[in-house]
Amino acid sequence: MIRMNINNIKIFFLLIILSIEIGQSVIPVERYSLSSVLIDKRIYFLGGESYHHSPKNSTTLDQILYLDISKPFNTLNPPFEILPNTIPFGSSYAIAFPSSQKNVIYLFGGITVNVNTDLDDFKSILHSYNLETNEWTIPTTSGIVPGRRKDISGVINNNTGKFYAFGGVSDQYTGTPNNSIILNDMNIFDINTLAWSIGSIINAPLPRVDYTATLLSNGIIVFIGGRETHAVRVVDINQLALYDTKADEWPSMTARNVTMENRFLHSAVLTPDERIIIFGGRQVPNDNPVLNQLAVLNTKTTPYEWSIPQVSAIGNMPLTTAAHSAILVENYMFINFGQITPFKNSQIQLPFFFILDIRNFTWVTQYEPEPSDNGKQIGIIIGAVGISVGVVTVVGFLGYKYYKKQRQGLYISRDRLRLCLTVTTT
Ligand SMILES: *[C@@H]1O[C@H](CO)[C@@H](O)[C@H](O)[C@H]1NC(C)=O
Ligand SMILES: *[C@@H]1O[C@H](CO)[C@@H](O)[C@H](O)[C@H]1NC(C)=O
Ligand SMILES: *[C@@H]1O[C@H](CO)[C@@H](O)[C@H](O)[C@H]1NC(C)=O
Ligand SMILES: *[C@@H]1O[C@H](CO)[C@@H](O)[C@H](O)[C@H]1NC(C)=O
Ligand SMILES: *[C@@H]1O[C@H](CO)[C@@H](O)[C@H](O)[C@H]1NC(C)=O
Repeated sequence: MIRMNINNIKIFFLLIILSIEIGQSVIPVERYSLSSVLIDKRIYFLGGESYHHSPKNSTTLDQILYLDISKPFNTLNPPFEILPNTIPFGSSYAIAFPSSQKNVIYLFGGITVNVNTDLDDFKSILHSYNLETNEWTIPTTSGIVPGRRKDISGVINNNTGKFYAFGGVSDQYTGTPNNSIILNDMNIFDINTLAWSIGSIINAPLPRVDYTATLLSNGIIVFIGGRETHAVRVVDINQLALYDTKADEWPSMTARNVTMENRFLHSAVLTPDERIIIFGGRQVPNDNPVLNQLAVLNTKTTPYEWSIPQVSAIGNMPLTTAAHSAILVENYMFINFGQITPFKNSQIQLPFFFILDIRNFTWVTQYEPEPSDNGKQIGIIIGAVGISVGVVTVVGFLGYKYYKKQRQGLYISRDRLRLCLTVTTT
């Protein structure tokens, strides 16, 4: 009975909050080659390339967007918000690593430019953004700091706190003749000790860019696709490069079942049952789109097996997409931004926001979060009631605690109800 009441109240407040939200959320400009991370109940989108950056001179964005995924929304009106704090430089072709324990986003590599002058503004290969203090810092690290690079992909091992960034192209943004030195080193950063180290190069793949990297629960990183050797040769997508993070070794494997179309600038997510879903990308050398944008690699068999799933509701599927962001949120694969292929500057516009239900490979337009546990919901409601009527003293410890934790939220909230909803991340 009590539970029902709480749910009713919850729905009531969700409706209020939703209606306010719609008015507040922003419609972001198009972008591609951005970095994205999921931390708690927010997806952050950092930087990217855009032709809609005016009045700033650079096409490289310094903007940070986020999306609150604690509430439902429709892809026609996703509740994007812009953080008032920007990245201290324009950033694209970089990797963002989440550290949920520390509430920090690490930004590694990529293009770094002054957004006003469009000139190179490289200061460090690694920057960190503290979500509580809203401060950007260059971490003081030990070990050999990797050289500049972009067009990379990487993974973080949540349990060990180590992140892995392989290869990339050395970023001589100012256009020296050596602007396409492609790398094949494995750089490892420990977010607990702030120490850099280097993985084995024995049997490492050829220098590679624009691939995906996915960490399996057994500690194996699966590298899929991309371009190698001066970026002119496409990697055979059935030839998987694997890096065993536990053994520091590079085994390889030929995936079977389907002979897949090779691709680069695609995306990959890992499902809870250890399938890797890839999406989009372009062909080498003509930049044409791939026929089967969506493919699945089952890593529970040896060798791994590719398959091409039967897809429903293709009317809701993005157009041929590359250089986009893909994040798995519960049962949904979120595809955001990117370019339409074949790439032409004038066609940068879409895609914008697409959602794949991975349980049955259906493209959906409505996102419904899994219900969160009741304790948290009650906390939110107390917080919402208390603060919205301004009777902070009546809210009691719980509300106060949430309020305190989210004080920084004031920065980004224009009304009080909104402030309370951000509480879900605690
Ligand atoms: C963009 O570049 C032009 C020409 O160099 C300059 O006059 C203008 O101030 C720049 N814009 C910004 C926002 O710095
Ligand atoms: C990270 O670790 C936490 C707890 O250690 C876990 O709840 C969470 O699902 C992990 N996230 C990922 C992406 O593995
Ligand atoms: C640039 O390339 C030339 C010729 O390959 C080489 O001699 C030189 O060392 C390179 N410079 C850098 C900074 O890598
Ligand atoms: C092999 O690929 C086909 C076509 O995508 C798929 O129907 C089939 O399930 C796959 N078999 C295995 C064992 O993955
Ligand atoms: C896909 O699965 C979801 C969740 O089980 C279900 O609600 C939806 O109706 C399914 N869609 C199709 C087309 O089967």
